[in-house]
Parts: sequence; C-alpha cells; structure tokens
Amino acid sequence: VKQITVTLKNSRDDSYQIDIGAGILDQAAMMLGKSGLAGRCVILTDSAIDALHGKRVQKILEKTGLRIERIVLPPGEETKTMASVLLIAERLTSLGADRQTLLIALGGGVIGDLTGFVASIYMRGIPFVQMPTTLLAQVDSSIGGKTGVDDASGKNMLGTFYQPKRVFIDTDFLKTLPDAIFRSGFAEVIKYGAIENPGLLDDIEKAASENGLRDPSFLLAIVAESCRIKKGIVEMDEREGGLRRVLNFGHTFGHALEAASGYRLSHGEAVAIGMTAAAGFSQKLHGLPAEDRDRITTAVRAAGLPGSITEIKHRLPDGIDINDIIDRLQMDKKALLVPAKEGKTVNFVMLRKLGEPFMNGAIPGEILRETLKELTL
Ligand SMILES: NC(=O)c1ccc[n+]([C@@H]2O[C@H](COP(=O)([O-])OP(=O)(O)OC[C@H]3O[C@@H](n4cnc5c(N)ncnc54)[C@H](O)[C@@H]3O)[C@@H](O)[C@H]2O)c1
Repeated sequence: VKQITVTLKNSRDDSYQIDIGAGILDQAAMMLGKSGLAGRCVILTDSAIDALHGKRVQKILEKTGLRIERIVLPPGEETKTMASVLLIAERLTSLGADRQTLLIALGGGVIGDLTGFVASIYMRGIPFVQMPTTLLAQVDSSIGGKTGVDDASGKNMLGTFYQPKRVFIDTDFLKTLPDAIFRSGFAEVIKYGAIENPGLLDDIEKAASENGLRDPSFLLAIVAESCRIKKGIVEMDEREGGLRRVLNFGHTFGHALEAASGYRLSHGEAVAIGMTAAAGFSQKLHGLPAEDRDRITTAVRAAGLPGSITEIKHRLPDGIDINDIIDRLQMDKKALLVPAKEGKTVNFVMLRKLGEPFMNGAIPGEILRETLKELTL
C-alpha cells in the first residue's frame, strides 16, 4: 500500500490520506473500522458498479463491525443533479443518518462529485470518503475536494469545496472498467505528463507497446504518480485561486469540442484533442519544441485516444462546425482569444516546454483557425 498525505491547514486541518494499492479493500475496511470516523456508513454508488462490486464491498466493510447501507443511483452524468441530491437527502433522513454517519462514494467522478456535495450540505456537513472505481476518478476527481452537480446552464454549476476524510484507491476496480471508459481516463494522466512529469508520457507509450495498458504494476505506478502530482497542486492552491488552473490543460478547448460534438465525443477524447490543440498553440506562440508536442500526441495515440478531429471522423460523419468551437471558446470564462486587457486575466493553459505550464496565454484569431485546420486535415 502506497500512502500519500494531502496537507491542508488553513482555518482548520483538512488533511487526509490517500491509500493506493491493488486489492486493498480489506485493509481499507480495517482502517475505516479503526478510524472511529463512523459506526455507521452509507455507500453511494450507481447501478452498474453496484451490480459488479456493491455487495462485495458492503460485506468486506461489515466484517469489521461497521453498519452499512447502500443507496444505488442510475449511472451516467444525468444523475449529477439537484434532483438526485434531494432524493439522497430524503433516503438519508429515512435511514436515520446523522452527523456521525459516514458517506462512502463508491464509483466514478459522477458518484464522487455527487456524494461530496451531499456530504457538504447534509446537516451542514457530514464526513465522506472516496472509493474511486474509474481511472479518471482514481487519478483526478477523488482528490482535491471539488464537489458539485450540473444544472440547466451547465456542468458543475452548483457545488462546494469539501475535502474527503480519506481516499481509498483500489486499482483492482479498473479490471471491470469497459475499454472506452478506461481509455478516457488516460487523458488526465497525459495531462499530468504534459504539465509536470513527461516520464508519464513515456510510461504510457512503453506499456502500450509491451505489457499493455492494463498491466497491474503499470497502472499502480501511474495512478500513484498522478495522485502525487494532483495533491501537490491542490496543496498549493486548494480553492483554484490560480495555480490549480494548470489542471485545465487541454480542457478549455476540450470542453468546447465536447459541446460542439453534441456530447458524442467522450470527455477523454475531447480533452485528448484539446491537449494536442493546446500543444499546437504553445508551439506556434511560445516556442514549445516540436518534439515535446509530438511526445504528447504519441502518448495520446498510445492510449487509444484521438490526436485530431480527423481521427474520429468515422464516428462523427457530419463533422464538427469549427465556427461553433470558436464561439464556444469565446464564451468560456476560462479562455479569451484576445490579448489580456488591464485587470483581465486570460486563463488558457499553455506550455513553454513539457513540465512548464503557464496561464494567461491569449490566442490570436488567425492562430486559432490555423490550428483548428491542422486538426481537421
Ligand atoms: N471533482 C473533480 O475534481 C473532477 C475532476 C474531473 C472530473 N470530474 C467529474 O467526473 C465525472 C466523470 O467521471 P467518470 O469519467 O468517472 O464517469 P462516471 O462516474 O459516469 O463513470 C463512467 C461509467 O463507468 C461505470 N463504472 C465506474 N466504475 C466502474 C467499474 N469499476 N467497472 C465497470 N464500470 C464502472 C459507471 O457505471 C459509469 O457508467 C464528470 O461529472 C466530471 O465533471 C470531477
């Protein structure tokens, strides 16, 4: 079991431990039982995960004397709503949940964000732990305390910063993850490779050509390294005042693309193309070496993700409207396509070289169009 500590000591001590290992559920149960965090726990999960792992996880936790209940929600982003929050709150009340009740988020980013949000507001805040089951959740969303739900105006529009008490990452959960969802998670790992540790890019390429991306020791290593990088950034900027925004590398463009595709592209696919685009802007505007850009695209392809819009043309026969992407980028609060005026910051993340991200990178219109064209050639 590898252990990492997130140290957050602002007005109060919100530090917590992340335990990472293959098949660590028994140890996680013992740690929870001994921690005194709760005598009683409620697992929140979705029906797909529940069918594969729900009963087993409940049994393992019960062995340590914990009282466990499960609330099962429908899978998918559609579940990340206020309606689910109210439903969960009602279920918690009817179960008699109180401030000594611990919520356990057993699932991907949807369940993690939703559970964290409920935990932050139920009875003005009850403890919760993260048990992430997707690659994206294990390397990204389970750490850092961003919680939230979507509403009609957009994703994560309602939310809180609320840290979990603990994160248990069992990489064995990834064994049942369908391929497309598994690959999608690699976009975040590649992001860490681009903004901090280029070694991750080489690891992905090597694994893809040797033992395969599902090799357990490779997965354990990249999950642990990703967590180390994310926790370092969160510790320096818990509430995204500045530095934490480097985690948006590839995402501003990715989100615009995801929306322009009518959400037919997965988040990982859109971010993968977004990172290639961001590397393209960085090369044209800030001297990112061509070989650095290539290393990003090579890792993207090794993970089975698209490096350009052309590579997904078969999936989107009617294509994507480039003007639509530009309009959406202009609307995005994180990107401005004009030079920063006084008092205005531009938050597009670019790279000077691999491992050296920076913000405030404005993109002139002609460079934007040129790069978009390259992505569709
Ligand atoms: N809080 C943060 O910092 C943060 C960061 C990144 C993303 N997010 C959020 O995360 C969400 C996306 O998360 P996601 O990609 O994990 O999606 P998800 O939670 O919807 O999970 C994807 C699918 O995988 C299934 N699944 C999960 N684990 C499985 C397993 N072990 N075996 C088989 N199937 C399994 C689920 O049932 C679901 O259908 C978005 O809502 C996004 O906003 C949050």
